[in-house]
Amino acid sequence: LKEATIVKIKQAQDLKELNQIRVETLGKKGPITEVLRGMKDLSAEERPKVGSFANEIRDLLTQEIEERKAVLETAAMNEALEKETIDVTLPGRSVKQGTRHILTQIMEEIEDIFVGMGYQIVEGYEVESDHYNFERMNLPKDHPARDMQDTFYISEEILIRTHTSPVQARTMEKHDFSKGALRMISPGKVFRRDTDDATHSHQFHQIEGLVIDKNVTMGDLKGTLEVVMKKMFGEDRQIRLRPSYFPFTEPSVEVDVSCFKCGGSGCNVCKHTGWIEILGAGMVHPNVLEMSGIDPEEYSGFAFGLGPDRVAMLRYGVNDIRNFYQNDLRFLSQFKGE
Ligand code: DAH
Repeated sequence: LKEATIVKIKQAQDLKELNQIRVETLGKKGPITEVLRGMKDLSAEERPKVGSFANEIRDLLTQEIEERKAVLETAAMNEALEKETIDVTLPGRSVKQGTRHILTQIMEEIEDIFVGMGYQIVEGYEVESDHYNFERMNLPKDHPARDMQDTFYISEEILIRTHTSPVQARTMEKHDFSKGALRMISPGKVFRRDTDDATHSHQFHQIEGLVIDKNVTMGDLKGTLEVVMKKMFGEDRQIRLRPSYFPFTEPSVEVDVSCFKCGGSGCNVCKHTGWIEILGAGMVHPNVLEMSGIDPEEYSGFAFGLGPDRVAMLRYGVNDIRNFYQNDLRFLSQFKGE
């Protein structure tokens, strides 16, 4: 039994087989246990002899099994390691990296320009009241110019803002003029009940600008916008102001920038006039100042509203505004940014 079992142990190919041999020889139903169990039938003389012999064999076999087990375990471990080795020479799979949305890039670029000129950035509310969106911007309930901005109303008094101008009123009423002038811009989403097409989107963006101080003039407005437009569209740009109408400014102007080269195949920025309309602006209406608790005799200011969507379309020759909102990566990933 001893010799045969040792041979079997040595030949065991894996841990499972080895365990089976252990159970067969040393287990409860195995021959050695049987011998030890049968001792009670032996004479007192035979008992110690048989007992120690059986124990000796049991110890020997146990040791053999342990040794073989160690060998098999090492082998199994080596095999596992071999299998799990990573082949570092395989070519990698590249991880797709996103880009910041082109409109985000443009808004951050414009924010940087204004922050450099000492403006603070103010966040407004996308859900606004009729009061701030219209009344406080000098657009009372029956004002015909309300038709210029078809509005998504949530209730009679609550709406989603049609422009970023309400942030003007919210900022003016809070500003402490004993600490100096108010200079702010406010970028964000705005909403209008338009049917979407190549040039209309029910959601788009604006950047509102506002400066209030003593003795602010139209010259300050023009000078400021000229600096900004040069930074955005190139140092050789010029701007011109055309008279216009907004209820919250008096006088009101539309601002054009001189033609610039844009990129992209659909680029047709400079068709005939040599000028491109880029934003609306004006001197803050005395009514607007007064409603925000500012004395129009003492203070004056200018304001402007700029469309980042339009800037992006002009600059990159994008001829359909819907591209910005459809999240097609083939479009968006063209604008890698820095
Ligand atoms: N709120 C205007 C609009 O949505 C844009 C605008 C024009 C803003 C003139 C201004 C401004 O602050 O002075 O059409």
